[in-house]
Amino acid sequence: MTKQFKRTTVTSALPYANGPVHIGHLAGVYVPADIYVRYLRLKGEDVLFIGGSDEHGVPIIIKARKEGVTPQDIVDRYHTLIKDSFKDFGISFDVYSRTSSKTHHGVASDFFKTLYDKGEFIEKESEQYYDEEAGQFLADRYITGECPHCHAEGAYGDQCEKCGTSLSPLDLINPKSAISGSAPVLKKTKHWYLPLDKHEPWLREWILENHKEWRPNVYGQCKSWLDMGLQPRAVSRDLDWGIPVPVEGAEGKVLYVWFDAPIGYISNTKELLPDTWETWWKDPETRLVHFIGKDNIVFHCIVFPAMLKAEGSYILPDNVPSNEFLNLEGDKISTSRNWAVWLHEYLVDFPGKQDVLRYVLTANAPETKDNDFTWKDFQARNNNELVAIYGNFVNRTLVLTHKYFEGKVPARGALTEYDQTTLQEFTGVKQQVEQLLNNFKFREAQKEAMNLARIGNKYLADTEPWKLAKTDMERVGTILNIALQISANLSIAFEPFLPFSSAKLRGLLQLEAWSWENLGSLDLLATGSTIAPAELLFEKIEDAAIDAQMQRLANIKVENEKQAYQPAAVKEATTFDDFMKLDIRVGTVLECQKVPKADKLLQFKIQDGMGTRTIVSGIAKYYNPEDLVGKQVCFIANFPPRKLKGIESQGMILSAEDADGRLVVISPSDKVTNGVSVC
Ligand code: 2FM
Ligand code: ZN
Repeated sequence: MTKQFKRTTVTSALPYANGPVHIGHLAGVYVPADIYVRYLRLKGEDVLFIGGSDEHGVPIIIKARKEGVTPQDIVDRYHTLIKDSFKDFGISFDVYSRTSSKTHHGVASDFFKTLYDKGEFIEKESEQYYDEEAGQFLADRYITGECPHCHAEGAYGDQCEKCGTSLSPLDLINPKSAISGSAPVLKKTKHWYLPLDKHEPWLREWILENHKEWRPNVYGQCKSWLDMGLQPRAVSRDLDWGIPVPVEGAEGKVLYVWFDAPIGYISNTKELLPDTWETWWKDPETRLVHFIGKDNIVFHCIVFPAMLKAEGSYILPDNVPSNEFLNLEGDKISTSRNWAVWLHEYLVDFPGKQDVLRYVLTANAPETKDNDFTWKDFQARNNNELVAIYGNFVNRTLVLTHKYFEGKVPARGALTEYDQTTLQEFTGVKQQVEQLLNNFKFREAQKEAMNLARIGNKYLADTEPWKLAKTDMERVGTILNIALQISANLSIAFEPFLPFSSAKLRGLLQLEAWSWENLGSLDLLATGSTIAPAELLFEKIEDAAIDAQMQRLANIKVENEKQAYQPAAVKEATTFDDFMKLDIRVGTVLECQKVPKADKLLQFKIQDGMGTRTIVSGIAKYYNPEDLVGKQVCFIANFPPRKLKGIESQGMILSAEDADGRLVVISPSDKVTNGVSVC
């Protein structure tokens, strides 16, 4: 039998405050968590939704160092941006705080101290890289070197970004400190470890036996960690940004970010509810649910539960609905490569369209496997589903009610067999949506809600009230009453998914008293009550808006390719004399035209100081011929003439080949006399 709980604590992964949030964050964690919480609240359940920023860790230190500011400056900047984005998208946290807060430092420090005093840690000395010039130990990300697998330069101490292999700093060939550039030395340092091996037996039973209902991706990842055998994990680091390890002899050491971050859920609860926070974390009648992305599974299913168990007074998570990853146009979302749709930018380009993004991200949620966000799909889902089905149905209903009944809900007369069939299809919707939401199947649940709109749309299309208006107004009234009641139901069914549109629809219907329990009722709107003038619930998104987004991504791709450009190896040594054999000169383009039947070729007439010469060059793809006229170019004057498409070319125009293969002609930076040599 499933256990009955009195209340639910819902946490959502604390995003690192080192960059803005993007669609991957929203799809993976925050939209599903918000749907779930809104649903529980609608059902009148006691629920607390905890969020916050994760403000420690090495990437934040590195970013601060790069920008010449403090880590606190970085987290202040992004905490505010992230918090505002979540608010804009209707992520309805009860609290959104941060791990640099005083409360959190206190809670995390006490948590460590309790475990330390109980003897739950082991202390170990190990050898780690130390930068003698900078006088500090180096975090894995601060050490770069040659990858032992693919031999790329610039691999990090924890991973080679070129071949994706996980590394340890000791694996790197010719390691270098990213701080001073010097070669680091190995030096002994002491750290505290959580002996996960000791926790393995109960973790095995708790997850593998008692939580078989967890999503297969979560269960599977836990099983593979457990089957590999758990090892002690260090919970401290040699860094100067973080929460100081609160024991003697730990100067210069802070708690490992993955030790303090999940405690942030507890601190943020305490910040919100200083007197009653423990009920939400320690009462066995509280259900704890963590919403996370797949890279966080081990920390939430193994490490954090082991910490909670070691402390002794906390409950353990009942479920950890983790999503897989969302890709963008076929490529992994990446903050460093700017390959993302940033939430704050989306709202500039699509103001007021929060629900469209929420809808698309849920429709494509990576619940069981990685999924792809594409702008074409975004447009199609908006135009073909939100506009054409949901919006169209509601709009027709409102417009017809104004047209035939002066905006008053008409009376419902006798129902036909067809009405009955329609209503039957629709009565099951509450139970179906509930069953799916209870099982964290948000995609399917939203589909069910959309089905309700489909039913309504079909009902209007089939009954054609506009045709009956001349002959049978009573029947028109019945049809519109049913359509209005379905519309009111839609505002409830979609409330967890599309809160902004639901609120708008309720405003249009003037529906004030409602609850989740009413879902499925045919009496949400009283006969004779007034509705507001019709307004569109969703708008069509035109091709131009989508093309602009695709162009933005195409530009980013070009930029990224350029940045990733690896210059070719320097050619074999040559001599000055050999160089001098080439007669390179400057001339002015007098004429330039495309060579017929040759896509790549341009024919130039060049004033070379002695007269004119013809040169044919393969740069037609990159220039409009007229743009080159009047420009000075460099050319090789002493190549033997050769024929190209029947034209004798008397030399070669010099170009640089850019990282993306584009050819750019070389010109002197100031005007010079035609015919002068380049040397
Ligand atoms: O992966 C991340 O973005 C982490 N900052 C998530 C932390 S979740 C929790 F432990 F706070
Ligand atoms: Zn590699």
